[in-house]
Amino acid sequence: MTMDRKSVEPAALSRRQFLGRLWWGATGLVLLEAAGGLVASLWPKIKVGAFGGKVTVGSLAEVKAIPVGTIVYFPEARFYLSRVDSGLLAIYRKCTHLGCVVPWRDDEQTEDGLASIGRFNCPCHASIFDRYGMVKGGPAPRPLDLFPITIEGGEVKVDTGTVVERSAFDASQALRI
Ligand code: FES
Repeated sequence: MTMDRKSVEPAALSRRQFLGRLWWGATGLVLLEAAGGLVASLWPKIKVGAFGGKVTVGSLAEVKAIPVGTIVYFPEARFYLSRVDSGLLAIYRKCTHLGCVVPWRDDEQTEDGLASIGRFNCPCHASIFDRYGMVKGGPAPRPLDLFPITIEGGEVKVDTGTVVERSAFDASQALRI
């Protein structure tokens, strides 16, 4: 059985049809590009939680439920939320010695009275910090830096664009919740 060639060959286009299709194709491309540009321009504004801006950590009710002595890590925003007896601290993870990322170690001995175990240990030159970010050993010249915390519209926010240096801990550094 032979196949009807007419049924498989593309239909011939008139010049007018060809130009019409070309115009619609070009218009579609322009619209797609414009839509892509719009999404790209909106993306940084709708992306919540990036380092360098204000990061929402949760509702006030959620944050209040965090027990004293708990550390919550926000790796993309580069800080630890530390629930201490006087409130909340947002501790910058950057070591105050030479800038290494300081990991939280919940298998190490505690350096404070807030929990039975856990401390920050810098892997570069062995500086040690407690849940307040205070230096407990090693060459770090000052406590870990803080980011300001605010409550806005019932949500707890951390301003990772503002680094607060300190020489000691006092209770006013913690946000009371
Ligand atoms: S960079 Fe942390 S102890 Fe040196």
